This record gives sequence, C-alpha cells and structure tokens, in this order.
Amino acid sequence: MSSQRSKVEVKGFEARHYDFLMGLLTVGSYSRWIRRAVRKAGAEEGWKIAELGSGTGIAACEFVRLIGEGGRYIGLDVGEEMMGKARKRCREKPNVQFIRNRIEEPFHLPFKADLFFLSFVIHGLEDCDKEKVIANVKKNLRDGGFLAVFDYSQMKLAESSWFRKLLIGKLECPLAAEFVEMNFPSFVGEQGFSTHRIEKEFHALFSLYIFKKR
Ligand SMILES: C[S@@+](CC[C@H](N)C(=O)[O-])C[C@H]1O[C@@H](n2cnc3c(N)ncnc32)[C@H](O)[C@@H]1O
Repeated sequence: MSSQRSKVEVKGFEARHYDFLMGLLTVGSYSRWIRRAVRKAGAEEGWKIAELGSGTGIAACEFVRLIGEGGRYIGLDVGEEMMGKARKRCREKPNVQFIRNRIEEPFHLPFKADLFFLSFVIHGLEDCDKEKVIANVKKNLRDGGFLAVFDYSQMKLAESSWFRKLLIGKLECPLAAEFVEMNFPSFVGEQGFSTHRIEKEFHALFSLYIFKKR
C-alpha cells in the first residue's frame, strides 16, 4: 500500500515522459549518473542482478553490458507505464526480464542474486516499507552478495545550501527530508548487512551506498 507522503510511484504524464523530464531537470545528466552508479556497483560478467524500482530501464541496459550473455537481470516495478518503457528499451536482450510487483511485498526470484540495485527509490518509502524491502533483498540475495543503493547523501538539511533545502526540503516528498537525516547505513546494518563502501557523487548530493550481506 502506497504512503500518502511518498512521491516515488511514477504514473501518467510523468511516466510517459520520465526520461525527457529527468533529462530536463538535470541538464541532460540523469541517465549518465545512473549508468555511472551501475558501473561503480561492481557487477561482474555472469552475475545475476535484481533491480527494485527499475523505472524506464536505464540501469538495466548498463547492467546487461557488464554481465554479458551469461548473466541475468530482473527488474521489479509497480508502474505499468515505466515498465512498458523498460521492456521496449531492453527488448532484444533475452537475459532481461521485468516483473510487476510492489517491492515491499514478498517476492521470490528464480535465482539468488549476486547484487541488488536501487536508484532513487528508497528515499521515498516509509521506514516500515524500507525494512520490508531490505528483508526481501536479504531473502533473495546469495550469502556475501551486495546491495547497492544510489540515492541522496546523508546531510543536515538546516546546515545545507539553499539549493539542497529547496530540492530536498520543498520539491521532494517529506520522506526524502527524513531519509537524508537518518543514519541509513546503520538502518541497513541492523538488518544483517555491513557497509562495504560509500561513494559520494555530484558534489556529494548523491551517494552510492554498497552493503554486503553478512
Ligand atoms: C523515481 S523513479 C526511479 C526509477 C529508476 N530507478 C531511476 O533511477 O531512473 C522510482 C521508480 O520506483 C517505482 N516504485 C516506487 N515505489 C514502488 C514500490 N513500492 N514498488 C515497486 N516499484 C516502486 C516507480 O514506479 C518508479 O519506476
């Protein structure tokens, strides 16, 4: 069940023009940021990847390039229009599959994944749903496997620039402001993961958080 405070479910006009709108908002950088985060997440040839909130398939295409024909990729998303775009984008790739499923609801992948990837999804979930998502990841991830999350960096909004206050405090959903102020690595740590690496991106506005299943 979606929270009233969340804005990460993308539908209608926004979904139909998602790539164009994100390109416009980020002066053409959005898909480049996602592809860069994917490359830094550490996927290897032959790996099995699962992405939660896979959107229009930007990360999927980059993962497929890295894992090759011997790897597998599954993307889960609740948005029909977003998924339609992702399927179109990856239509010639036999090792790519998209499944319509809420990511906080239980799911069982046909494999134990080597790596889970989430970009710009988790900040928009209530904490109880974040916990359910991480539990789903843990269940479907191999021992020693990785969870890579590309999202806003941790910061104190009151001490941040006017731009960050406007973007995260006003334009984003209230859950995003709570996300940046929480201790996300320790939240994930409490659910059986250790922090493997955190890389700051784009003037430290975003971070790539990489966790390892204990
Ligand atoms: C902000 S978009 C990000 C899409 C993509 N990860 C990217 O970085 O371009 C969030 C995506 O997560 C999906 N989503 C949001 N909440 C979800 C949920 N509870 N279950 C499944 N998908 C969800 C939306 O439909 C949308 O495609």
